[in-house]
Parts: sequence; C-alpha cells; structure tokens
Amino acid sequence: MVLALPELPMSRLNDHISGPADEESHFGFSSVRLGEKQDLVDDVFRKVASRYDIMNDVMSLGLHRAWKDVLVGMVKPQRSGVFKHLDVAGGTGDVAFRIAELAPSADVTVLDINPNMLAVGQERATQRGFHDIAFVEANAEELPFEAGQFDAYTIAFGIRNVPRIDKALSEAYRVLKRGGRFLCLEFSEVDIPIMDKVYEAYSFSAIPAFGKVITGDGQPYRYLVESIRKFPNPERFQSMIEEAGFQRASYTSLTGNIVAIHSGWKL
Ligand SMILES: C[S@@+](CC[C@H](N)C(=O)[O-])C[C@H]1O[C@@H](n2cnc3c(N)ncnc32)[C@H](O)[C@@H]1O
Repeated sequence: MVLALPELPMSRLNDHISGPADEESHFGFSSVRLGEKQDLVDDVFRKVASRYDIMNDVMSLGLHRAWKDVLVGMVKPQRSGVFKHLDVAGGTGDVAFRIAELAPSADVTVLDINPNMLAVGQERATQRGFHDIAFVEANAEELPFEAGQFDAYTIAFGIRNVPRIDKALSEAYRVLKRGGRFLCLEFSEVDIPIMDKVYEAYSFSAIPAFGKVITGDGQPYRYLVESIRKFPNPERFQSMIEEAGFQRASYTSLTGNIVAIHSGWKL
C-alpha cells in the first residue's frame, strides 16, 4: 500500500514548501522558477516510470547495479534486531530491495514524490516477495516522520532532482538517529582526459536516442543528462552535507568519477 499524504495530491506537495517560489532554479540547462521545478521533474518521472528500470540498464550498461551494491554495502545494516532504513527518492525500489535482502529483519521504507514510480516499485516488491517494505508518497524536502527515527538514510540518483537540496539534507539530518548515517549515490564529474569526451558524447547523443527508442520520448533523458551537469561538484556537495550538520563527511568516487557515494554521520 502506498501511504500518501491525503490532503496533498502530487502537484500540491510542491506548493506548500516554504521559500520564494519565484527564485531562479534550473531544469536541466533551462532556467525555471524554483516553484516550477518539481512539477517539471514529476512530469519526467511520470513519463518514464514504466520503462525506468530497463532504461537504467541500457543507459548505464548495467553499471547502476554494481554502484547500488556498493552503496548498500556501505550501509552495513544489522542482520538482527530492528534496523530502520529510509530510502528517499527510492522510485522503483532497487536500493530498498538490496537492503531487505541483506537484512531481512530490517524495517525498510521507500519514499518518493512520484506515485507512478512508487506503483512500479510496489509491483516489483510484490513479485519479489518483499511484502514488508513500506512505500510512502512524500517530498524529500518535508519528510512525514518524527525526528531521530532512522538508522540509515539513502538517496540514489535522487537528490539532483530535488529543487531545494539544502532542505532535503536538513530533513535527512532531522530524521536520522544519533549515530545514523546518510549515504547519497549521485553522478559526479568525469574529468579524466579522453574519457570525459567519450562520456560527454555518450550522454548527450546516445542516451536521449536510447530514450526515444525505448520510451518513445528522448526529452526526459535529455533533462536527466543535463541535470547531471548542473549538479554541484563532489567538493561543493560535501560542503553542503557538512552545512546540514553531518560530521565525518567524505565521498568515494567510482568508475572513473562517473558516480560518487557521499557519506555523513549524525553524531
Ligand atoms: C533517477 S530516479 C532514482 C530512483 C531510484 N533511487 C534509483 O536509483 O533507481 C529519481 C527519483 O527521484 C524522485 N524525486 C524527485 N524529486 C523528489 C522529491 N522532491 N522528493 C522525493 N522524491 C523525489 C523521482 O520521483 C524519481 O523517482
């Protein structure tokens, strides 16, 4: 069952978050008003939800699976006792399923703003026998949980889609227990000579073209690629994690800096 916030349908989930809605933001390479960004992002994931998983394999040549394995390996969920795990922007459930496999007694929640992505995730959870994973429809900028509840918080390829990243980070800090860990898997900055050119060509030409063939529309994938370029570099993002209150912040780059896993502790 998807637990939605009843009085706030998706397009309204974005309206009541405080902050000047006419502040500038970006949607890929386009400038948009901050208050508009979430609706545009929601539209992207509504369009791609049913083909999201297959496109992930195609776009990353299957590498997203290995990156998610590394992420979940860093969570180190306790195998006994109740380990409370929150996977934000969890979409179709990949990270949550890995946690539940590793620690069957863990109490796992997937949170996402998009009901289409959650519906695919729920169906996959049922097919795989993960009946205890909770699916919650909500905004990462305003988590519907009390403070100090979770042992770990993960967000994979999600945070660059959130309009107010600083709000999402302070919410992550709020809902973690003391001793809890924040882990974020996100695209990074490829700065290795030659590889950067190959990556650029692949991202801007091949990925939207695959998107068009597989989903019938290349535009959502153009946004996804552009949004990677607009995301803060790893040093800047680490500073943002520290500004949210996390300690011992660090990051690990994988696969020639294509992605990085950021870590911070609530101590
Ligand atoms: C690229 S997908 C990542 C899905 C999944 N974590 C994975 O790695 O396969 C990004 C997800 O972020 C979600 N999202 C975007 N903005 C959000 C927000 N403000 N709060 C929660 N989820 C959000 C989207 O709905 C989408 O499911």
